Amino acid sequence: MEIIEVHTKSRPSTVYCGEGAAQAASEYLRGAQAFVVTDTNVSRLYADTISRLFPGAPACVLPAGERHKNRTGLFTILGKMLDAQLHRPSVVVAFGGGVIGDMAGLAAALYMRGTRLVQMPTTLLAQVDSSVGGKTAVDYRGVKNVVGAFYQPERVFCDPVFLNTLPAREVRCGLGEIVKTGLLDEKVGAKIRENADKLHELAFLQELAADCIRFKAGVVERDETESSGLRKCLNLGHTTGHALELLCGRRSHGEYVLIGLWLESFIAEGEGVCEPSYAQEVRSLVLRALPRIPRFPNAAEGLRFALLDKKNAGSGVSFILPKSRGAYAELTLPPERYAHYLNILAEERQ
Ligand SMILES: NC(=O)c1ccc[n+]([C@@H]2O[C@H](COP(=O)([O-])OP(=O)(O)OC[C@H]3O[C@@H](n4cnc5c(N)ncnc54)[C@H](O)[C@@H]3O)[C@@H](O)[C@H]2O)c1
Repeated sequence: MEIIEVHTKSRPSTVYCGEGAAQAASEYLRGAQAFVVTDTNVSRLYADTISRLFPGAPACVLPAGERHKNRTGLFTILGKMLDAQLHRPSVVVAFGGGVIGDMAGLAAALYMRGTRLVQMPTTLLAQVDSSVGGKTAVDYRGVKNVVGAFYQPERVFCDPVFLNTLPAREVRCGLGEIVKTGLLDEKVGAKIRENADKLHELAFLQELAADCIRFKAGVVERDETESSGLRKCLNLGHTTGHALELLCGRRSHGEYVLIGLWLESFIAEGEGVCEPSYAQEVRSLVLRALPRIPRFPNAAEGLRFALLDKKNAGSGVSFILPKSRGAYAELTLPPERYAHYLNILAEERQ
């Protein structure tokens, strides 16, 4: 099991990544008042595991899915925390994917102005990305993650055992953030390029998980609250990804990130941010993870959502774009220029 320290100013975090992490969580929380937040799918698969790991801990089981990542979900958790008479030393255990991690994390930040928080990510996306770094949020009035807080978990336990039950679509979802990290971090990028044929093998993805966490930890340590701008790099591919997610909402977050990376490689190329050969390399890599980029006949409507993106300054749409291996650039485009690129997604493709 790998142990990665995240030295953030507000509160340091320790990530345990590898086989045995779930058991380590159980031992860590022995004697504490734990409160488990999970969703219906995870509960169906792991109710017995949860009872064994955290005996006697009350659980709040929320409906699964991004569309439930809202104030109703948040206040359901807070209500159950009150019912369970939790206090500030109680520990919220976010046992699930990124949706549960984000919502339970925000509930932990708000309840009595902050209870203890432990993340136990059960999806690939949550293990490689969302459980680390302390971003918590819910969506509100159609805007993704608009109500949130930075709140570091004191421990993150990433056990690969949970990935065995993940549907293929959710594995692809995690691939979005893995490919993104590969474009931002040259070492991860080289590993992915050398093993591109293994990109759908769980064993290889688990190996990449620790690399991705280490990279994210390094970024978060230097810019915990996105104030210096460095942390924004983690949004590569996300302007378009989030816009399409809000517009269509049928696919997983990671698939939209992959589609975002694909489209934004055209923007990077068209706006002179990267060489055409690198843009092509980015697209080829994305296609290894998601072999078919779907057509979005109404893609231009995504502009409405992109304009709400938190990265935007002024009236334009801001992007983090791939520049060269391990490097990125920030760019703001006038809305009509972005609409022009969005139309690429509406075109017929083979
Ligand atoms: N906080 C951050 O830094 C950050 C970063 C990236 C993404 N996110 C957020 O993460 C969310 C997406 O996370 P996600 O992809 O994990 O989605 P998710 O939590 O909805 O999980 C995806 C699906 O997998 C199911 N599931 C979870 N664990 C399972 C398991 N072990 N076996 C079988 N099924 C399982 C869930 O019930 C759900 O249906 C988005 O809301 C996104 O905004 C947050």
